[in-house]
Amino acid sequence: MEVTATAPGKIILFGEHAVVHGQPAIAVPLPAVRATAVVHPGRPGGRMMIIAANLARTIVVNAAPRRSDHALAVASRLLVEHFGVPLPNFYVLVHSTIPVASGLGSGAAATTALLRALSKALDITIDVETLNALVYEIEKLYHGTPSGIDNTVVVYEQPVYFVRGQPIETFAIGAPLHLVVADTGVASPTHVTVGDVRALFEREPQRIGAIFDRIGSISRQAREKIVQGDVAALGRLMQQNHALLRDLAVSSALLDKLVAAAESAGAYGAKLSGGGRGGNLIALTPPEATARVSEAIQAAGARRTILATLS
Ligand code: MEV
Repeated sequence: MEVTATAPGKIILFGEHAVVHGQPAIAVPLPAVRATAVVHPGRPGGRMMIIAANLARTIVVNAAPRRSDHALAVASRLLVEHFGVPLPNFYVLVHSTIPVASGLGSGAAATTALLRALSKALDITIDVETLNALVYEIEKLYHGTPSGIDNTVVVYEQPVYFVRGQPIETFAIGAPLHLVVADTGVASPTHVTVGDVRALFEREPQRIGAIFDRIGSISRQAREKIVQGDVAALGRLMQQNHALLRDLAVSSALLDKLVAAAESAGAYGAKLSGGGRGGNLIALTPPEATARVSEAIQAAGARRTILATLS
């Protein structure tokens, strides 16, 4: 018997980095790209194995922790320990269409899909809050000091207005949002930019704290504009948010160039999305300009684009 589960990618619309420091942020799932885990029964007496197809890696899940353990092995152990069941000898295939290390939540989605599939195969009922808490534990181990927004949007698969440590809030989308999500092709680990922003904040608490406050205010306004369906105002808020992320030194020459290309091709606004310095950017466009904006971003150097409509 084979058991399958999936989880989507994600994008941050507003508030990245400031969210680590207590400000609100907005994120949405990106269902066009997904991680999938397929559990097969293993051979009697065999050990649990995970085939991470995208990494071309076979991960052996040992009962005892090892320093070299992959996140997916740690996650599997965490699940069985949480529910007090023995480690199964399953053979699990994990594959994903979410580009790795690009800020689209590939790690959180792979962990979520794995834990969902494992719990189904073990006949464990796992509620969404417990699943979210377990995925967050893994995010903390491998990504430094995450706010928790990435695992939350991936696990709940709903648009979220997120404030660290508070219950999640979701909201309605008043008018369809046409987004071009573009991958710079530059891998940029989020824990590095999060660490750099923290160091900057420690050096200059007043200046950087004021930037966090302004980003928080943008997220609050953006939520209202999303509910009202005021796309032009949202585009302006994206431009302001990108400028503030530049002040936090998490943009890059390429990201700035791609943002400018999107805006010249008719986007309402564009900004980096996620950790920055590489990874992704998003552009909000009128529906008739989506193809033009996507082409302009690619011509300016993006590796690939994904079109997404949020409604
Ligand atoms: C990464 O998708 C978003 C950041 O704000 C980090 C975090 O919230 O943990 C940069």
